[in-house]
Amino acid sequence: MILVTGGAGYIGVVLVKELLKKGISVRIFDKLYFGEKPLEEFRDRIDLVQGDIRNFDRAILNDIDAVAHLAGLSNDPTAEFNPAANMEMNAKGTAELATVCKEKGIRKFTYASSCSIYDRGLFAEDLIQDENAPVQPRAAYAISKYKGERALLELADEDFYPVILRQGTVYGYSPRMRYDLVVNTFVKDALQKGKLTVFCGGEMWRPLIDITDAAGAHICCLEADETKIGGNIYNISYKNYRILEVAYRVKKALEDIVDVEIDVDYFERKTRSYRVSTKKIETELGFKPTVSIEDSARDMAHKIIDGNAADMENPLYYNINWMTLLVELEQTLKEIGTVF
Ligand SMILES: NC(=O)c1ccc[n+]([C@@H]2O[C@H](COP(=O)([O-])OP(=O)(O)OC[C@H]3O[C@@H](n4cnc5c(N)ncnc54)[C@H](O)[C@@H]3O)[C@@H](O)[C@H]2O)c1
Repeated sequence: MILVTGGAGYIGVVLVKELLKKGISVRIFDKLYFGEKPLEEFRDRIDLVQGDIRNFDRAILNDIDAVAHLAGLSNDPTAEFNPAANMEMNAKGTAELATVCKEKGIRKFTYASSCSIYDRGLFAEDLIQDENAPVQPRAAYAISKYKGERALLELADEDFYPVILRQGTVYGYSPRMRYDLVVNTFVKDALQKGKLTVFCGGEMWRPLIDITDAAGAHICCLEADETKIGGNIYNISYKNYRILEVAYRVKKALEDIVDVEIDVDYFERKTRSYRVSTKKIETELGFKPTVSIEDSARDMAHKIIDGNAADMENPLYYNINWMTLLVELEQTLKEIGTVF
């Protein structure tokens, strides 16, 4: 059985679906910030444990053969909203989970890290960075992911084979939808407003990858020979794009559905920019993503038009809006007691 932490999240739900398709049994461990409705399609076929990675019961690892670790705060704004919780969840939680895995003889462990670790800003030297590039993460989120990576690498040996997947920004439809990721935001804006707004001339680079490909990278590593993956870092991305190009690709992909205007501003502001090489995972594990922005954007648009996650302004689809709302509700409930 595979334990997927964060299995009720945007990528986690798709990963769990893909594992079940392969006949692999799954346990999900998740705080369920976004509820368990996204799991309804396969709820009767999984073992679900609600809990916090900062304080987990070791029993979640009973009968587990391998772990895909995706749980944690998953973007800059939520990490900055509560930097202490971010560090405890993303760095310390990762280290503790991996330590217990090792003690229990669970040998394979995939980690959902992030290419944002490479970010040095839009005005830094423009390099295609591979896994050996020196990194100096700046933002709270990237620092916490990097610390999680370091903890795993320290534990790696002939008894424990963690692999770090530095994921590009993910795009595509998930039953637990996010509209706070660039391609998804563009598809939403195209359908809602017929207009995409691009900042800084859209000059910033991003490595991007479809959600089924991101899930596929975890599965590829879970299926690989442990000695091949152990202690390795892999970048995963379909391609690197400038954001302006992403906007034009989404516009073109949706041309049969909606007329889209692109509005570009050229004001300088602080923004992330980075591009990566994905040669290592392709050469060593034969992993090559296949789903383009265009195919994924069209699929997403059709699903939305069919009524899936069609209430696009719902705060549930924007991590920072949802966290802010939960904290406000938590405070209000403390003051007023139950609602009725
Ligand atoms: N989505 C992307 O573009 C992207 C890119 C690079 C890396 N990542 C990483 O991939 C992973 C999954 O991202 P996602 O987009 O699915 O995010 P998400 O926010 O949709 O899902 C995260 C899941 O983790 C759970 N979770 C959060 N804190 C937890 C805690 N303390 N204990 C237990 N569960 C907790 C949440 O309830 C949620 O279900 C994250 O680790 C993220 O940092 C995501």
